[in-house]
Amino acid sequence: MTLKVRKPFIAGNWKMHNNLEESKKLAQAIVDASKNKTDVEIMIAPVFTAINTVSKITKGTNVILSAQNCHWQEQGAFTGDVSPAQIKDAGASCVILGHSERRSIFGETDEIINKKLKTAVKFGLTVVFCVGETLQQRESGKTFEILSEQLKKGLADISKEQTENLVIAYEPIWAIGTGKTATPTQAQETHKFVRQELSKLFDESASDKIRIIYGGSVKSENIDAIMSRPDIDGVLVGGASLKAESFLRIINFKNE
Ligand code: PGA
Repeated sequence: MTLKVRKPFIAGNWKMHNNLEESKKLAQAIVDASKNKTDVEIMIAPVFTAINTVSKITKGTNVILSAQNCHWQEQGAFTGDVSPAQIKDAGASCVILGHSERRSIFGETDEIINKKLKTAVKFGLTVVFCVGETLQQRESGKTFEILSEQLKKGLADISKEQTENLVIAYEPIWAIGTGKTATPTQAQETHKFVRQELSKLFDESASDKIRIIYGGSVKSENIDAIMSRPDIDGVLVGGASLKAESFLRIINFKNE
């Protein structure tokens, strides 16, 4: 059994799923089942329109409420966007940034993500910052180079102190929503590399504390093996976070 050095962070990214009723039901089931659960941090990220409603359920509980994206300005003429201040105002305390769907579908660059990250941290939001390589990049041996670049650019101008509000999510793009998962060995090897990079960007004491979570087809069937690796400090779950039963099994992972 591996004892976790860092408190595990288990996050559910609901993406563009669930109406208000479904969001409330799912949030309530997670809150109810995790009342006395203090050994992990649990985060859920509904769509923007459900954040305020869900905040009434998560308030005062140990479930952290997150947005899935934000703008880099506090307010202004940015039709269709939402600022970190507004996310906080709606009742969330966390935001996911740099998700591969934002990068590939919405054209977000490392520079844009960095601007968002800096504002989010400034407003006191915890940031789950996603990095990951494509299949082609992995097959051509570029994984570490890509990750190093995403980390360096995405975390530019972030201070060591600000890393206290930072969680890194390693999500190999080829594993997201595909049913293919990085093997626990592949994930551990990559997480270890990410931790070394963080230690270069900040220092060893900061990198020792930052949670590096894995994402990409995590489900109840593979969670125990994934969590058994020393540098895997949690998971970012998409599909399997939409059903209370599977997400709760993931939260209650067993150390192998
Ligand atoms: P998945 O998504 O678990 O459905 O693969 C993970 C993610 O995109 O965060």
